[in-house]
Amino acid sequence: MFEQLQPLASDPILGLSIAYLQDTNPNKVDLGVGVYKNEAGITPVLSSITQAQAILHQEEQTKAYQGPAGDALFNQTIQTLIFGAELEARVGERLRTLQAPGGCGALRLAAELFKVSAAAQGKTSAAAHRNTEAPTIWVSTPTWANHIPLLGGAGLTIREYPYYDAATQSVNFDAMAETLQQVPAGDIVLLHGCCHNPCGADLNTEQWQQVAAIAVDRGFVPFIDLAYQGFGDGLDEDVYGVRLLADTVPEMLVASSCSKNFGLYRERTGALSVLGSNAESTYNAFTQMQSIARGIWSMPPAHGAALVAKVLSDDVLRGQWQGEVAEMRVRIATLRGQLAAALNDAGDFSFIPRQRGMFSFLGLSEAQVEALKNEYSVYMVGSSRINIAGISQNNLEYLAASIKAVL
Ligand code: LMR
Repeated sequence: MFEQLQPLASDPILGLSIAYLQDTNPNKVDLGVGVYKNEAGITPVLSSITQAQAILHQEEQTKAYQGPAGDALFNQTIQTLIFGAELEARVGERLRTLQAPGGCGALRLAAELFKVSAAAQGKTSAAAHRNTEAPTIWVSTPTWANHIPLLGGAGLTIREYPYYDAATQSVNFDAMAETLQQVPAGDIVLLHGCCHNPCGADLNTEQWQQVAAIAVDRGFVPFIDLAYQGFGDGLDEDVYGVRLLADTVPEMLVASSCSKNFGLYRERTGALSVLGSNAESTYNAFTQMQSIARGIWSMPPAHGAALVAKVLSDDVLRGQWQGEVAEMRVRIATLRGQLAAALNDAGDFSFIPRQRGMFSFLGLSEAQVEALKNEYSVYMVGSSRINIAGISQNNLEYLAASIKAVL
C-alpha cells in the first residue's frame, strides 16, 4: 500500500523548530514558529490558565462525552469575546458558535460547510459560471503558509487577492480593493482579523469599511481568520473589522483560535462562528457543522475549552487574563521598536513598529535567510518572516549584528 509513497519535506514552519532544537550554537535565535515567548524564551502557561486549571481539577465531575458542538459555556463566552455583547444582542440567533480543535479545525470545518452549502444550492452562481462545483475562496497574497494546503486540501478552489506590498511594507489596498470588486457573488473571501500572518500589516478602520461595502455590493461571504485577538492594539480594537462586517453583511464566518491569546497551543482550542441571514439558516448551518464535526473528529478536546470558559466567566480570572494579554502585547510592541532601532544604521526598518502582532517580513532574500541559519544560527521562515516574540534583551544585539552581516 505505501510502497509508491514519496517522502515529503517537513512543514516549512513547524520543521524549523526541529532544526533549531538540534542546533548546538549557544547563541542560536528562534524566530520561526509563531508561538509567544517571554523574556526568558519560554512560552509560559498563563497564570490565569494555571488557576483555572486548579479550579477545574476540583470541580470536574466527569470526562463523559460532550457532543460535536463541544462546551456550551465556551461557545457562549468566546462568541461574546469576539463579537461583543451589544452586537450579539442585535444579531440574536443569526449568530452561533461551535467549538473546534484549534483554529485549523475551525478552518477545516468551514471548508466542509462551504462545500455542503454549495452542494445544497446545486451550484453557486459563481461556481456555475466557472463550471465547477467547488466553492472558491480568495486568500491574501501572501497568507499563512497553511491556509492554501489546508483549504485547498479540503477541496476548495483557491484564488488570490493582492495584499502586501514589499516595496512599501504595507497593504496595497488599491490593488486589494480592485480585485475584491471582481469577486463573484457567493465566493468566499478569507481575511485576517488582525495581526496579519505573515506580514504584520493590517487594514485600518477606513479600509475595513471599504471592504465591508464591497462585500455587500458584490455579495461575497467574508470569512475571518482570527488567531491573534489582543496581540495588536487591544482585545476590542483587534476585532473592529469582525464586528463591522457582522453589523453590515448578511452572512459571514469567523474561525478563531485560543492558541496565542490564551497560550493554549497544544490544547487545540478554537471555534467557528457563523452568522446567517436569518435565525433559521444559521440554525441549519449549525446542525450541519455538528454533523461535519461528527464525521471528522466526532467531538473536540474538552480541556482547553473548559479553561477558557472558566477564565472568561469568572470576573477575577478574566481581569487577570486581560492583564496577561496586555503584557504580551506590550512586550511585542516594545521589541518591534527595539529591533527597528537596532537595525537603524543598516536601512529603514521603521515599518517594524508600524506593523502589528507577532510577525513581520525582514525583506531578506532566501539566500540571506539561509545564511542567517547556517552561519549565525538565526532561524526564521524562508520568506524572512520573523516571530518578534522570539527576540529578547539577551539576543537582540546578536540578532541585529547577524542581520546586518548578511545584508
Ligand atoms: C505560525 O504561523 O507560525 C503559527 O500559526 C504556527 C503554525 O501552526 O504554523
